[in-house]
Amino acid sequence: MRSAQKTVLKMEKVNKIYEGDPPFQALFDINLEIHEGEIISIIGPSGSGKSTLLHLLGCLDKPTSGEIYVGGSQVSKMNDDQLAFTRRETIGFVFQAFNLAPTLNVFKNVELPLVIKGVPPAERKPVVDRLLEVVGLTDKRASMTTKISGGQKQRVAVARSLVNNPKILLADEPTGNLDSKSSDDVINFILKLCQERGITVIFVTHDPRIAAHTERQIRIMDGKIESDIYSRNTKRRDLR
Ligand SMILES: Nc1ncnc2c1ncn2[C@@H]1O[C@H](COP(=O)(O)OP(=O)(O)O)[C@@H](O)[C@H]1O
Ligand SMILES: [Mg+2]
Repeated sequence: MRSAQKTVLKMEKVNKIYEGDPPFQALFDINLEIHEGEIISIIGPSGSGKSTLLHLLGCLDKPTSGEIYVGGSQVSKMNDDQLAFTRRETIGFVFQAFNLAPTLNVFKNVELPLVIKGVPPAERKPVVDRLLEVVGLTDKRASMTTKISGGQKQRVAVARSLVNNPKILLADEPTGNLDSKSSDDVINFILKLCQERGITVIFVTHDPRIAAHTERQIRIMDGKIESDIYSRNTKRRDLR
């Protein structure tokens, strides 16, 4: 059944060596295929290579060897413009540290990717308003992001990551800085929005509650995939 599904991300024999003295090999011969609409968690101890893997999948960094395909396209054959386009149009990111623009208010943070893309203001507003409504931040739309809680910041980041309608959402420890109530809210919003829209989601996480709600769990150890498990009876949706 899985083979009938469309592949959205693929890695073939991917190695990543960080230059330095001495150099450090963070990933070893990774083969991985990710299908449209899958909800996946990548788990493993600190330093095992999870962020490295996610950054390569998101075209934020390049492998030392091996091939990565986003959609059907081979990343190593893309020029810088094509790479930037793929990142912007296909992939949404959520980071542990939120990475919001501190000089912009909530609305403008969510709107920013559309501004960069050149979408006219009249078209931007309804899209941003709708996402802010879904993540429960309509009343905070004019607040500066320095004046809202961690959970609210991450909800802004989730809305921003989806404003361009990406096909894939990559979230690196999205609840790492949040209390359990805010974590549940953020995860629920991500799952709800992405399931509705058929977006493939990859969570890098230490949080067993996230892993329990994903249908596929990939465990990384010392730069290698140690296990890759599909669980049938994942309770998805509400964590509470
Ligand atoms: N830019 C870098 N230069 C050198 N080593 C790095 C760099 N980034 C990560 N590493 C090393 O690669 C390994 C994997 O890192 P990372 O992917 O961040 O792990 P994780 O996200 O699982 O904690 C770690 O040993 C880390 O120290
Ligand atoms: Mg990491």
